[in-house]
Formats: sequence, structure tokens, C-alpha cells
Amino acid sequence: MIEFVLLDFWYPVSFSSGLGRRPRRVTALGRDLVVWRTRTGRVSVLSDLCVHRGGALSQGRVDGERIACPYHGWQYRTDGTCALIPAQPQRTVPPKARVDAYPVTERFGIVWAFLGDLPEQERPPLPEWPEHDEPGWRRIQGEFSWAAHVDRVVEGGLDFAHGPFVHRGTFGRFAPAEIPDFAVDAGPWSARAVDSGSGGLAWFLPSTTLTDLDLPGGRQLILQAHLPVDHGHTRTFWVALRNYATSRLADGVVGLMDRMVLWEDRRVVERLRPELLPFDLSDELHVRADALQVAYRRRRRELVAGGWPVVGDPAGVGPARVLPSPARRAVRGWVHRAGR
Ligand code: FES
Ligand SMILES: [Fe+2]
Repeated sequence: MIEFVLLDFWYPVSFSSGLGRRPRRVTALGRDLVVWRTRTGRVSVLSDLCVHRGGALSQGRVDGERIACPYHGWQYRTDGTCALIPAQPQRTVPPKARVDAYPVTERFGIVWAFLGDLPEQERPPLPEWPEHDEPGWRRIQGEFSWAAHVDRVVEGGLDFAHGPFVHRGTFGRFAPAEIPDFAVDAGPWSARAVDSGSGGLAWFLPSTTLTDLDLPGGRQLILQAHLPVDHGHTRTFWVALRNYATSRLADGVVGLMDRMVLWEDRRVVERLRPELLPFDLSDELHVRADALQVAYRRRRRELVAGGWPVVGDPAGVGPARVLPSPARRAVRGWVHRAGR
């Protein structure tokens, strides 16, 4: 199966603020998930595929701390186990009546799901962004969609040299084309680089970037958490902090500017070929200004070559395949196969 995207990482699936009690279907890594909040406010992410007849739980409704399938009303708990089969309430629920449940956390106003089966102590970390919780910043957020593979989108956010060409309509008009040499500070799960001209850029595996823009009036920090929807589509949850024009009245203008920058990127990124990042570094030509992207490609390649699990695009036919969850390591007997 063709490599598509890394499993066993935290992925953004929703904004916290957009998630009421209505279940939400989110396609992630080519599989459907349901993201929902219980009556007491707990967020849960489950495979959106009822083990009975394949009903979409996201069409169901939340009943207290459970979600009920829309087809025959089976009720699932936040850990994915089925609590009630209404057609035979007196009988015990079979142990195989469970769907995969993914670990969840909320950070930076975003709901993150751990998509994979690694136990807690072995999981790679979430992105670090201490400024998000510091005072003095005004925060806005938005969602954005791309018809492009996630890696091409991520690399667009790590690209020091494209400003004057792609962003002529916004900040790029004043950006210099020449990029002074910069150092890349790389760790196992992230890397950052500071360019003396325009600010800093960073990536956090699997697919988040952080832009630190030095503007005449102050700084703007933009986190872009990208969700691979499938191999040709990406959903972006972005959060922007600024320490200038901190009045709420400026939110509209700053937000419009941030969206215009994304539209400029999208025009170019959606036409990059091949759609999937070449696995071999030598299949494209790199220059010094691309050093942060090269560090990203190297690290991904290293992980995959070392056996890190990846997931391919699921075929549209055949038995359903879901993403593996941690409970699979402890519990045997599952209806759906975990596809890699
Ligand atoms: S398909 Fe979900 S309860 Fe029957
Ligand atoms: Fe850009």
C-alpha cells in the first residue's frame, strides 16, 4: 500500500468552541470518526462506524454520557464499549460490541485525538506553544480546506523563500527575495529556524506549523494544525495571536488578512505535483533556503524507514477498516479490522 500519512500521532479534529452536543463527523486519515461532547462536557472521539450494521454514529444523538446509533439505537460509552442494545435489553451485551475510541485532549482551543494504538507513555508530544497561555495576546481562529496532500500543505508553511512570489497581494510585496543563511534547530518531534529578515518558522510532527511574523507594529504568531482528511484533502485549524491592535475591533481585518494569505498559498499548493511528497530527497532539488523543509522530510523518512506505522488510503470496497486504538493492545476480538 502506498504511504499516505503517519499513524500514532496527535491530530487536530475540531475546535473546542465549535463542538456542542451535536455529534460531528470528521474524516481523518481516510477514516470517519465521530467527535462529540457528553452532557458533562467530556469530549470523545470514536470510530464513526457502528459494529452492528455500519450506522454512522455521527447521525445519532447524545444521551447523557453515551451516544446512540441512529439505526437501531445501540448506545456507546466514551470508551467505545456498548452499554445497551435496545432490541434485547435483558441480555448481556456481547464483548465484541465496541468501537475504537481514541485518546483525546484539548489544547490551544483545539481538540486533538491520538490516532493510533501506542500506550500513553510512548506517545509523541503535542506541539509546544507557551505564548498561547500568556497574557497580552489577542487571539482569533479559523478553519480552512485544501485539495492537497497534507505534506505539501505543511511544507508551504515552512517555506522562507515563497513570500515575494506567492504573497504579492499581502505581506509579500515588502518581503526580500534573498534569504540569508539560517540555522535549523531540530529535535526528534519538531524543528525551528529563525531568519533574520522576517521572523521564525517551526514544524511539529506530524503536521503542525508555527509562524512567527515580525511586523512593523508587533508580532503575530500563527499556529496551523493540519488534519489529513484523505490523501488529496487537508483541513486546517489555525489560531493567530497578535500583540498589536489587540482590540476586538481589529479582529475582522486581521482575520481577513490571514485568510487572504491562505488563499494565496492554496492557489499554488493545490497544483504541486506529484501530490504526495517524493520519498527520496533526490527527487526534487533543494537549496539552502529549503533547509527547514529538508529537516521535515528527513525526519519523516527516518521514521518510516525505521518502521513507524503509516496508513494508506482505504479502498472504497471490501470490509471496513478503522484506525487502531490503544484498547486493541489489551482487548481481543474486534468486529472491524484495523487497517494500516
Ligand atoms: S447499525 Fe448501529 S445500531 Fe444497528
Ligand atoms: Fe505562504
